[in-house]
Amino acid sequence: MKMPENDFHLVCGASEIPEGSSKAFSITGENGSKTDVAIFNIAGRFYAISNVCVHQGGPLSQGFLDGNIVTCPWHGWKYSVVDGKSPHEGGDSVSSYPVYVSEDNVYVSTIPARVGRRISKPHKAYQELDSAVKQHVANITGSKVLPVETNVRVLGISTTNTDSKAPRKSTSEAALQFALDYAKAKHAETVMIKLRDLNFRHCEGYYSKNANACIFPCSISEMDEKDQMIEIYDRFLVWADVVIVSTPIRWGSASSLYYQMVQRMNCVQNQMVTHDNYLVRDKVAAFIITGGQDNVQHVAGELLSFWSQLGCVFGEFPFVGWSRGWYAEDTENNHREETNSKAFKKDLMRTVNGAIEMSRLVKKSRYDERVLNLH
Ligand code: FES
Repeated sequence: MKMPENDFHLVCGASEIPEGSSKAFSITGENGSKTDVAIFNIAGRFYAISNVCVHQGGPLSQGFLDGNIVTCPWHGWKYSVVDGKSPHEGGDSVSSYPVYVSEDNVYVSTIPARVGRRISKPHKAYQELDSAVKQHVANITGSKVLPVETNVRVLGISTTNTDSKAPRKSTSEAALQFALDYAKAKHAETVMIKLRDLNFRHCEGYYSKNANACIFPCSISEMDEKDQMIEIYDRFLVWADVVIVSTPIRWGSASSLYYQMVQRMNCVQNQMVTHDNYLVRDKVAAFIITGGQDNVQHVAGELLSFWSQLGCVFGEFPFVGWSRGWYAEDTENNHREETNSKAFKKDLMRTVNGAIEMSRLVKKSRYDERVLNLH
């Protein structure tokens, strides 16, 4: 075959891409434009497709090759290296490019043989969350003063796995319910989410593959329509002014459901790192930590650390702890002891007051907007 005259670029020697492997090249056109291609050697034949996955830009040259199908290393979309078409539903595709091999040299044209495009759309709830969060952030960015509503919205997140049918009642959830009732009496709107009632998957560590593979909203919520982290993202990022997280102490740490949730919030924090995008605005966080045995301060330290890095602020006395100490093995009595404790109730009320007042101050002074206005 004679090499066509237009727009073919020498990219490498054929021996540089052994059979069954691939390599990425960035080709600069005469006008300075760049085309990122992935070249594959399948049984001695060379194929070129875009190196940029149409999902979120994953590098296809680093994907897993099976026959002539490459799987994106970020979230698993598949493409034929022959024509760039995806076998998955929706018909998404990446561009494919003509390849010419002569005297052990590989040439690629930057004029696509077939232009790729993304056709499929995320499911409805995912799209709605995405636009609600964008809208919310856009509305408050640059505002000097926000309306300070009399009805502060307080979200309670209960992370215990103990349900109401269990013979031993959850102390952390009883305390959270008391805190929410008290907030309501102070004219707050309240909602409690019980993590054990939600169906959501654990973090799959996309951040560890590449910072840009960890997207917001989380790609797991995009892939799995049944994943109910969407409810938490929406309530926390868009609806709530104050979030109160309650947890029991399990072997010295917060509950396993708590960690399952916060690891899925990596994508919220990661937006700051990858896109300078601050999703948590004007949020106050507070915590309730209970356990038959001790370690309240350690758990409080972990919780304060994580939620501060999300961009939350704290009122005075941002956590309340309750514990009967090391020798209290009779945990069936915890609930009664706790709900009879006037001192604990007083501490809870103080923490709720601190959070609600801080929420008003933050909004009125546009505290985070002034902090984030770095230019
Ligand atoms: S599957 Fe390729 S970037 Fe998500």
